[in-house]
Amino acid sequence: MNHEKIEKNVGLMGVLIALVISIGGLVQIVPLYFQGAGTNPAPGVKPYPALNLAGRDVYVREGCYTCHSQMIRPFRSETERYGPYSLAGESVYDHPFQFGSKRTGPDLARVGGRYSDEWHRVHLINPRDVVPESNMPRFPWLKDARVDGALVASKMTALRKIGVPYTDEEIAGAAAAVEGKTELDALVAYLQGLGTNIKAGN
Ligand code: HEC
Repeated sequence: MNHEKIEKNVGLMGVLIALVISIGGLVQIVPLYFQGAGTNPAPGVKPYPALNLAGRDVYVREGCYTCHSQMIRPFRSETERYGPYSLAGESVYDHPFQFGSKRTGPDLARVGGRYSDEWHRVHLINPRDVVPESNMPRFPWLKDARVDGALVASKMTALRKIGVPYTDEEIAGAAAAVEGKTELDALVAYLQGLGTNIKAGN
């Protein structure tokens, strides 16, 4: 009887559906606020050094995330290919995170240390030189563009305001750390750091 009333009254049904979905949502979301796994850094995870941070911005600017994810899912097919699955605590210093949702190329969450710096340089300038069948675009201009030290320092200051624990010394030393470096150097440093913090911490 009661059920029939609900079925024949769209307004009431709408309200009850909203109620049920809210309870389901709260049950999933609220524990995350108290767990800390998503807001505290995983063991070994540190803020990006100045050069890597500059490289990360090149990664975002060039749209690498449109073809590469940085999110290894907890499935055997993924962990056997890419390594241990990604933890929320690994991306607490990523603003914005680079999880991505498209894999034209492989996942890069743990690409650090998989190839030499030289391999990355050749690959970024022309991927076909090392992987003949690759359809990844070339990024040859990166080797001629310089990293702007003052800009990196101000980015670190901005990131500190939203909770990334950079020290005064790190910010003061940022310009010197990227002095004379190209955007290619920065991007390679960033790639070589991906996924290595957590390995060191384990
Ligand atoms: C149009 C899609 C596309 C874009 C954009 C792209 N890639 Fe790729 N990437 C690929 C494909 C496909 C491969 C696999 C073939 C190869 O190794 O070149 C690849 C491979 C790689 C690899 C080797 C990964 C491994 O585990 O073997 C790295 C590192 C990489 N890309 C970095 C980058 C970076 C950094 C950028 C941005 C500057 C970028 N890619 C932009 C498609 C793309």
